[in-house]
Amino acid sequence: MLETTLVLVKPDGVQRGLVGEIISRFEKIGMKITGMKMFWVDKDFAKKHYSAHVGKSFYSGLEKNITEGPVVAMAIEGLHAVEIVRKIVGGTEPRTSPPGTIRGDYSHHSYEYCNSKGIGIKNLIHASGNIAEAKSEIKLWFKKDELHSYKTVHEIHTM
Ligand code: PPS
Repeated sequence: MLETTLVLVKPDGVQRGLVGEIISRFEKIGMKITGMKMFWVDKDFAKKHYSAHVGKSFYSGLEKNITEGPVVAMAIEGLHAVEIVRKIVGGTEPRTSPPGTIRGDYSHHSYEYCNSKGIGIKNLIHASGNIAEAKSEIKLWFKKDELHSYKTVHEIHTM
């Protein structure tokens, strides 16, 4: 139902100037941004955010990528936001992300490049995987007073 999910435009997305494009994908389908900030993740925070993946074969590449520049973090609210946002983002590997998804449209080339060099893959964006993860990630990334409750113009006009 009405859910809030965490979206990160990862350092590669910020460096490629895709922040506006990525935000607009969510705004255009009526999702509401309720929190947003730019933040440079350090190794300790990366281990908290990706705690489920520490120790996996790809973790060092993942940590290197998420700490190499600032990220833009967003709390996004909407109906079935967790599931819908993940659909818009696409799969981990751009090859399995169809055109029209963010990763399918923008990360194919960089992904193949990183794979061929054996370095951590760059796939632009993170989105919470399920409702429980979304709740704990929003808590990790945002203080209560950094989240805002307001009505969009659509909500005002339908009241
Ligand atoms: S798993 O094991 O199926 O849960 O892993 P997955 O959900 O596919 O990926 C977990 C996060 O790790 C990122 N990932 C990588 N980053 C860099 N290099 C490599 N090789 C790599 N493989 C997976 C993947 O994008 C997920 O991060 P987020 O930020 O959530 O997308």
